[in-house]
Amino acid sequence: MLNLSRKYKDTLDYINNLAPFSPEIAIVLGSGLGKLAQKVNVKKEISTADIPLYPVSTIIGHAGKIIFAEYAGKNLLLFQGRIHFYEGYKIYECLLPVFISHSLGCKNIILTNAAGGINPNYVPGDLMLNSSMNGINIKKELNNFIGIPGSDGIRNFNNFPSPKLNKTIKNAALECKIDLKEGVYWYCKGPNYETPAEIKMAARFEADAVGMSTVHEAIYASYLGMETSAISCITNFAAGISATKLNHSEVTETAKLVETKFENLVKKTIELS
Ligand code: HPA
Repeated sequence: MLNLSRKYKDTLDYINNLAPFSPEIAIVLGSGLGKLAQKVNVKKEISTADIPLYPVSTIIGHAGKIIFAEYAGKNLLLFQGRIHFYEGYKIYECLLPVFISHSLGCKNIILTNAAGGINPNYVPGDLMLNSSMNGINIKKELNNFIGIPGSDGIRNFNNFPSPKLNKTIKNAALECKIDLKEGVYWYCKGPNYETPAEIKMAARFEADAVGMSTVHEAIYASYLGMETSAISCITNFAAGISATKLNHSEVTETAKLVETKFENLVKKTIELS
């Protein structure tokens, strides 16, 4: 059976040797949301290309850095760029940011992503706190993943989202006067965007937003006992919701527009944590 601690011993040793502190809060920054790193006090930046066995990020908007930073007296671990299943990596490779965060001592993890809006009340630029997720089309991969000790437990997704961390994020939104939406994130593997018919189906199943990441990270992080929450930045109308065709530059451009709102929400969440 694959043992992540053994397989990634060199990876962890490398990061641990450079770590200036033991972090409390991990934040995985989604497409175009990596600029948060400029708003906190960076203590140590590690290029993932230098880390043994760390998968190479292949996507525009994902810088590939692990950053130790401090903000509001809290020690943070930021992942600038994530590893997507659609890039062809194994599911356990996609879980590395979560595995590393947990191994380094993080008790909280905030997962962020760019997502397409399905809910008719959502417009690009909205932020959506994930109330739940639909990962029906990735659970098989996760459940086949034998690298997690007691892998049966991975099927238990009842700890997501963390009521405590979600409450903190909602309070942060109130303080920042951000109209934070709350809804269900629907996972599609990608890398192609969905068809209008798929989005119609997802809407019938009460999905509010759609994206190509996060679900497996959320399942694993909550399985490991971390307080786990996820925030989606609605970067576009999902396929068929608007007449315009989707592309990745629209996603990164909207993420840029919503940058300040997103940063304020996350910074206030850190302050209140
Ligand atoms: N679909 C899937 N993933 C996405 C989208 C989308 O519309 N927008 C940003 N990430």
